[in-house]
Amino acid sequence: MKPSSRAVHAGRDLKARSPLAPDLSTAAVHVYTDLDDYDAVAKGERPGYYYGRNSNSNREMLEKAVAELEGAEAGLATASGMAALHTAMLALAPRPVTIVATRELYGGTLALLRQDFEPAGYEINFVDLRDLEAVRRAVSSAGLVLAETITNPLCAVPDLEAIATMARDRGVPFLVDNTFASPILCRPLELRATAVMHSATKYLGGHSDLVAGVVAGDAKAIGAARARSVRTGTTLSPFDAWLALRGLRTLDVRMRRHSENSLVLARAMQEMDGVARVHHPLLDGSPSFAVAQRLLPRGAGGMMAFDLEGGRDAVQRMMSRFHIVTFAASLGGVETTISYPEITSHRSLTPQERAELGVTPGTVRVSVGIEDADDIVADFAQALAS
Ligand SMILES: Cc1ncc(COP(=O)(O)O)c(C=O)c1O
Repeated sequence: MKPSSRAVHAGRDLKARSPLAPDLSTAAVHVYTDLDDYDAVAKGERPGYYYGRNSNSNREMLEKAVAELEGAEAGLATASGMAALHTAMLALAPRPVTIVATRELYGGTLALLRQDFEPAGYEINFVDLRDLEAVRRAVSSAGLVLAETITNPLCAVPDLEAIATMARDRGVPFLVDNTFASPILCRPLELRATAVMHSATKYLGGHSDLVAGVVAGDAKAIGAARARSVRTGTTLSPFDAWLALRGLRTLDVRMRRHSENSLVLARAMQEMDGVARVHHPLLDGSPSFAVAQRLLPRGAGGMMAFDLEGGRDAVQRMMSRFHIVTFAASLGGVETTISYPEITSHRSLTPQERAELGVTPGTVRVSVGIEDADDIVADFAQALAS
């Protein structure tokens, strides 16, 4: 099956009289009449559910669907993207090691590395993942490599294929945050990454109405991640799993439209008043253009950014003039939204760290929605007109 069909059908096994849309199972616990039967289900030797933190039909369906879409053996759905990242990192590197990552990560990820992993004895070696020589040097002493398919907020695309090969050659696990691309646009496991994770809050769910995460990878890694997630109680609630699966069914059409619209907007913004720079990996002249064309042949999704002359005041002025675009500190929904990394995703960085990354007081991140591209472009154009 092609990915578009897989998004529609993955994770379910329809038989005669099955509900076409899955029932929502909110039960915290299932009853049993036979101790051997309970024992076999609890050991995973027989299919079935027994306690909601351990297993649930809606969660299981979502896990199977995302694993199928990512080309993975298994999946695990968690209470948020951060829970997915945390449990995946600990599954791949349970004891303190050196983690190689770029500084241009989602701010929450950076905070997790600094405030949870570093104090626990992990070392973080920040390198520019686009500099493959620097990556090669760093990987030789690493115990985990962490990358985002498309970086946050400036939308660079590291060469995941080259990094995965270096990591494999050294036996170092490579974890990819595939939130911005989704498995419709990029499947890092096919590029030989070890595991992928998502904030399913974003494109997988797609409607800004749930918070969830998913990890996908081989059965051993996911088994370790699942055991920890069950122990620490970070598994996903049935309703959020149900919503995420419902969103996933339209992932392919949404990603196509997000990708088309973001490129139209990025090109148009290059001509708009007060715009100093536009960041989109598929713009001619983007430093990521060649890698993005190779790794994201179906489009780069809905994320882009731009730098506005005039800093925060200019951003506020634009925001107060919007008719359809709104400010919202998330992404991946059907509506076009903007975010301001200085006070949202990258607020935990110092001004100097943000400047080193290229995140300026005028940097605005856009999550381009699925409205008509003409309406999105027109709203930015009138909001920025002098
Ligand atoms: C790239 C990326 N990874 C992970 C996360 C964390 O996901 P969640 O908010 O679902 O915990 C986010 C949230 O914005 C994100 O943008």
